[in-house]
Amino acid sequence: MNKLNHVAFIMDGNGRWGKKRNRGRNFGHLNGVQTVKKIVKSSIKLKIPILTFYVFSTENWKRPQSEINFLFKLIINYFNKELNNVISNGIKINIIGKTNKLPLKIRSNLKKVIKLTKTNKKIIVNLAINYGSKDEIVNAIEKIKRKKNINVKLLSNNLYTF
Ligand code: IPE
Ligand code: MG
Repeated sequence: MNKLNHVAFIMDGNGRWGKKRNRGRNFGHLNGVQTVKKIVKSSIKLKIPILTFYVFSTENWKRPQSEINFLFKLIINYFNKELNNVISNGIKINIIGKTNKLPLKIRSNLKKVIKLTKTNKKIIVNLAINYGSKDEIVNAIEKIKRKKNINVKLLSNNLYTF
């Protein structure tokens, strides 16, 4: 195992990258996916056990609907095309964030991806989609509020990552 246990990436600048090349923001998003792929591949080689990518924040709902749709479609298309590769490379996909607020199509796609990669052992890739840190805490409190002994371990076990 690598000394690095968990590396997180805040995805940023993809839209500007595409625009700078006169190909539009979505071109940047498209290429961003390839960068994520490269990072995962290298991290497996380096034996880093956990990665987190901040893919879509609670703030990103303010973007034009067309861009939001493109981003969700990008994720769905990626997994439709690459799920077999993800599985054969031992990648476990975990989603952190409020997924019940996402469109049904991406929710069911992600549900399938989580289920089919659940037992994979090479690397855990957390995708933060509609993620907010305070929301994560509220979500955990909702789950444990009726318990008698609320402690750090219980709270930790009920966060999106466990
Ligand atoms: C990161 O790139 C991808 C997402 C947040 C979805 P941005 O979309 O933030 O690109 P810039 O920062 O506007 O260029
Ligand atoms: Mg940005």
